[in-house]
Amino acid sequence: MAAVPAVRFPLFGLVRLLGVAAAAVILVWAVHFRGGMALSAEKDKLLIFNVHPVLMLIGLVVLNAEALLAYKTVPGTKKLKKLVHITLQFLAMFLSLVGLWAVWKFHDEKEIDHLYTLHSWLGLSCIIIFSLQWAAGFLTFWYPGGSRSDRASLLPWHVFLGVFLYVLAIATSVTGLLEKSIFMQSAKMIGRFSTEAMLMNSLGMMLILLGALVILAIFNPGAGKINTYRGSSE
Ligand code: HEM
Repeated sequence: MAAVPAVRFPLFGLVRLLGVAAAAVILVWAVHFRGGMALSAEKDKLLIFNVHPVLMLIGLVVLNAEALLAYKTVPGTKKLKKLVHITLQFLAMFLSLVGLWAVWKFHDEKEIDHLYTLHSWLGLSCIIIFSLQWAAGFLTFWYPGGSRSDRASLLPWHVFLGVFLYVLAIATSVTGLLEKSIFMQSAKMIGRFSTEAMLMNSLGMMLILLGALVILAIFNPGAGKINTYRGSSE
């Protein structure tokens, strides 16, 4: 297999910084530009919608990234790293289910059709595969735990699906941002070059960069270690 690119910058710190920045931007967007969030609202149903992007992004993008990298960033025993990994993934799954519930409720209360967009199809696939992956991982690698051969055969698929799901979460979030921005521009709620539209575009770009760095970090040897090619005998 080809060597992993040598990284000479603080990759893991950068992933965390970008994750925190993305979470801050979506919160600023929801609270400052869109008037806040609510789990139920009599008049302004859009407040219920606003819960959706915030929880999806913090769950499936920011916490998911931390969970994927926990084996490399958390000090201590393998068991502790695994515990942090499954706990963060559980939290990500929980937030995404609440976020899905919020947008579903918003559609019901505004009598909007469900699942008519590519974004919603990508999103539903992402949440279903994520939940199945979490359940299979929990049962095989934590409790009650599979046999040695079960664990050995699931692990490569678990890693592949984890990377695939991260890419899918980024693609879903970017299509969600695009869709919401275009909806608002068509309804003349925001202008094409308004600060809000530019902020949403910038957040989309940040997510793409975060996706690239997370994949690089997954295939990198670990925090603080520089991956260099040391000859064909290794
Ligand atoms: C990984 C993250 C995300 C997932 C898994 C996801 C999933 C979904 C799903 C399943 C629906 C369909 C709800 C229904 O039909 O009742 C939906 C709707 C929607 N989402 Fe997301 N979403 C994500 C992130 C975002 C983000 C960041 C935004 C940005 C504003 C967003 C904007 C929307 C909008 C505008 C709708 C309503 C229109 C539609 O059904 O496509 N989503 N989302």
